[in-house]
Amino acid sequence: MTKVFATMKFPEKGINMLQEEGFEVTVNEKDKPLTRDELIENVMSHNALFCTLSDKLDKYFLNRCSHLDIISQFAVGVDNIDLEEATRLGIPVGNTPDVLSDATADVAFGLMINVSRKMFYLHKSIGRGNWKHFKPDANLGIEIKNRTLGVFGLGRIGMEMARRCRGAYNMKIIYHNRSRNKMAENEFGANYVGFEELLGQSDVLSVHTNLSAETDGIFNKDAFSRMKPTAIFINTARGRIHNENDLIQALNNGIIWGAGLDVTNPEPMDPSNPLLSMENVAVLPHIGSATRETRNKMSELAAKNIIEYYRGNKIPNLVNTGVSIQD
Ligand code: DGY
Repeated sequence: MTKVFATMKFPEKGINMLQEEGFEVTVNEKDKPLTRDELIENVMSHNALFCTLSDKLDKYFLNRCSHLDIISQFAVGVDNIDLEEATRLGIPVGNTPDVLSDATADVAFGLMINVSRKMFYLHKSIGRGNWKHFKPDANLGIEIKNRTLGVFGLGRIGMEMARRCRGAYNMKIIYHNRSRNKMAENEFGANYVGFEELLGQSDVLSVHTNLSAETDGIFNKDAFSRMKPTAIFINTARGRIHNENDLIQALNNGIIWGAGLDVTNPEPMDPSNPLLSMENVAVLPHIGSATRETRNKMSELAAKNIIEYYRGNKIPNLVNTGVSIQD
C-alpha cells in the first residue's frame, strides 16, 4: 500500500481524499513542526510527503529521503524546499496556487486600512485604559483614497490586492515585476515601473512576490530610505523579503510612515519585538490563507497532486517542471 506522511494536521478534506483513493496516511499529531531528524525518521517509511512551509526540506533532507515519489506542499510558496536538489533527484514537487489569492489579498488590504488608521494599536490602547474622552486632534490616521498603490510582484495575489485598492479607493496602480502584466495594464491601467520608481512613488507598497535569491532582504535600509516618509509598507509574502531591523529603524526615524506585516523573520515573531508596540504598525501571525474555505481548497489541491501522480496523470500543480519523473 502506498504510504503518505502528513507533517501536520491539515484540513481533513485532502486527507479523506487520499484515504478514499486507497492511500495509507500517517498524520503527525504533535502540535508543532517536526525537527529535520524527526521528519527524516518518519518519512523513511513513506512513499509521498504532504508538507507545508514550516518543514525545511533542504539538500540533506532530500538526499536522506531520495526514495520519495512526490512532495506535495500545502502552500503556494515553496522556499522551504531545495527545488534544484529535488529536481536533480527526480522528485516532483507540487503546490497549491490560485485558491489562496483572495484570502491573502484580503489580509494585505485589511493591514493597509488598519495601519492607515492605527487600528491595532488603538484597539490595544483601550485595554490599557487610555480612552479618556473624545479628542479632536488625537489618534489621527491618513487616508488612502486616490493614492498610489505600488505592487512588488504583480501575480495572482497582487492582482487581487490591486483590484481591491482600485475598486474601493480608486488608487492608481504601479507595479514592478520580472515581466509585464498585460492583464493588469488593460484592466486597471497599471503602470510598469522600475524598482526605484516603485519605491519613490508608492503611497502604499505591497509585497506579493516569492522569496528568491533576488528578493531576499531587498527591502532594506537603502530601499526604505528611497520611499516616501508618508508611505505604508505591507508584506504578506515572506518575512525574509524585508530586513526587520532596517524596517524598525525606518519606522522609528520617520523614514516611512507605517507597516503591515503578515509575515516576519523569524516566524514566530518574538513577543518582545518592538514592532508589536508601534503605533503605525499591524502584525499578524501568517494568516493570509487562513479561511476555512481556502484551507480546505488548499488541502484538496495538495491531495490532488499526489493522487494524479499515482494515477499516472499530469501533476496539476507541478512546481519543478524540469523534473524527469522516475517510474
Ligand atoms: C503560502 O501559501 O505560501 C502562504 O504563505 C500560506 O498561507
